[in-house]
Amino acid sequence: MQKELQGQVAVVTGASSGIGAGVAQSLADAGAIVVVNHPVAATKADADAVLKEITDAGGQGITYQCDVSKEDQVDQMFADVVAQLGTVDILVNNAGIQRDAAFHEMTLAQWDAVIGVNLTGQFLCARAAIREFLRRGPRPEVSSATGKIICMSSVHEVIPWAGHINYAASKGGVKLLMQSLAQEYGDRRIRVNSICPGAIQTPINHSAWGTPEALNSLMRLIPYNRIGQPADIGNLAVFLASDKSDYITGSSIFIDGGMTVLESFVDNG
Ligand code: BGC
Repeated sequence: MQKELQGQVAVVTGASSGIGAGVAQSLADAGAIVVVNHPVAATKADADAVLKEITDAGGQGITYQCDVSKEDQVDQMFADVVAQLGTVDILVNNAGIQRDAAFHEMTLAQWDAVIGVNLTGQFLCARAAIREFLRRGPRPEVSSATGKIICMSSVHEVIPWAGHINYAASKGGVKLLMQSLAQEYGDRRIRVNSICPGAIQTPINHSAWGTPEALNSLMRLIPYNRIGQPADIGNLAVFLASDKSDYITGSSIFIDGGMTVLESFVDNG
């Protein structure tokens, strides 16, 4: 049986660890050829390890180093991917960082770093992807949509987050970036949606699950009473990239074990 993303090229930013690595694996399992993007030379070994898991499981992909906050690097990555793999069908705008600080102590460097990767990075990659979708036009043999963009947002696009204001501001920005893109390009059959994860067990939030005490206190924020795994997000990414979600665009889908339906939210999620 034909796999649901067979023959489609997917760029996953920040795929050398955490949620991005899980998403890359799930998309590859679904038949996509995956570009495992990683930010700097120091993350190449991690990206290689993600690619090895993909190819060991019978999947296909390449690794590509690019800092998504840098315009020239992003444009070069898309040009190289199109030259090497023919086109891009799916962008998972996943790369994201935290630089936490009390607001009155937050440096401009901490603010700029987070906005640069989490918001400007999503702008630059979405722009490059949409340019490619428009250049190429429809590919009905692989999908009813001309292109699909999945933005990795967060429960913190709606839950304010004291102590992490740069991060919350970036995800609030992603929410309207995603919605406005869906509005602007819907008539070109480009679908744009966000995944809004809650607490997923990855290096970015190690302090929230790294000790039994921390994990216990995290569980007070999660009605479903377990921490999420990258594969949970990967499954949703496959659905949003596939034609099974062909009528979904402009949506934020929360995947958080119920975190957003909790009556109150305290810091340290
Ligand atoms: C953050 C994590 C946090 C989770 C829930 C995510 O967007 O990156 O550090 O655990 O939201 O608060």
